[in-house]
Amino acid sequence: MLTIEYNKDLSSLNTFSMKVSCACYVEYDSLEDLFKIDFDSLPQPVKHMGGGSNLLFTSDFKGTILHSGIKFIRLDAEHDDECLIEVGSGVTFDDFIDWACSMRLWGTENLSLIPGEVGASAVQNIGAYGVEVKDIIVRVNCLDRKIMELVTIEKADCHYGYRESFFKNEDKEGRFIITSVLFRLTREYSPRLDYGNLRSVLQDRTVYAPRDVRDAVIAIRNAKLPDPKQLGNAGSFFKNPVLTRGQFEAIEAMNRSENGPDAVLPHYEVENGIKVPAAWMIERCGFKGLRLGGAAVYEKQPLVIVNASGEATPEEIIALERKIIDGVKAKFGVELHPEVEHL
Ligand code: EPU
Repeated sequence: MLTIEYNKDLSSLNTFSMKVSCACYVEYDSLEDLFKIDFDSLPQPVKHMGGGSNLLFTSDFKGTILHSGIKFIRLDAEHDDECLIEVGSGVTFDDFIDWACSMRLWGTENLSLIPGEVGASAVQNIGAYGVEVKDIIVRVNCLDRKIMELVTIEKADCHYGYRESFFKNEDKEGRFIITSVLFRLTREYSPRLDYGNLRSVLQDRTVYAPRDVRDAVIAIRNAKLPDPKQLGNAGSFFKNPVLTRGQFEAIEAMNRSENGPDAVLPHYEVENGIKVPAAWMIERCGFKGLRLGGAAVYEKQPLVIVNASGEATPEEIIALERKIIDGVKAKFGVELHPEVEHL
């Protein structure tokens, strides 16, 4: 079915619960319906949205919000232990994980409880607990709006990086609309437990199946991340910065001089430098729990900005964002970049 609504309230469609609206909202639940849309006749610009879990609306949106309701999970092929699964872009990612765990297929379980939908996961390259969705993506199926034909984009051409992709960086015009994603999952026993405290949370339990890992990830996330249904938020607000060795050593020296010779600076070596948790920097600036109007830095995980009053305005969230960026820059000389897209 194709649904077109004008002046639609988006409060319940963005996890920050911003009270904003869009001039037009279009939802389709099949390829046939997608082809029926006359894009040129819609209020411009046209922006595709997933679960609204990584977006900050900075004001009412003058254009059209498109949303996929394409929901299917289909076994595409099976070779030995490997299964290729095609999933519609409108499927809630966590529902797909739940399905994969009931089929005892490994690959998605570390991403449990990340909000959002399958199409958006391939745009954002969502990641958690040592896994990024690019690790299991084979290819992405899209409607190319320019030629109005279905096309397939292989993973190599998606240019995936840390929360980065071709769709996010290069396809600024929104030419490609993701209709489904092909994932490679496996029946072969392959838990990935090396990130942070995952192994220690599981220590007295044997991992038999993907669901055991899923349960542990859910327990960790529930303990420190706010549930958007209770407290509006968009998950991590900032990306973790990647520092040069020089920057890292300077911050390490500062940390030791401020907090003693044994003070530890958490970090992870990555391809192009050293990743330091933005949460650690924000905490060191004394911003944990900081409130500006209706917006606040979440007490248990300062990488998350929350709509604390339920009535926070976009301006208040942006003022808090600015304060954090400026504070971290002044103390550490590091520029934080938002992970959340501003619209
Ligand atoms: N930390 C502090 N103070 C705090 C909280 C954390 O110093 O109050 C430091 C600790 O050293 C901790 C480190 O930050 O060890 C890392 O924290 P955590 O493992 O919670 O993860 P993160 O780096 O803050 C990233 C992702 C999350 C993902 C987790 C787990 C980004 C921007 N965020 O956060 O993703 O769930 O790792 O893999 O990469 C999201 O993208 O919305 C999201 C929640």
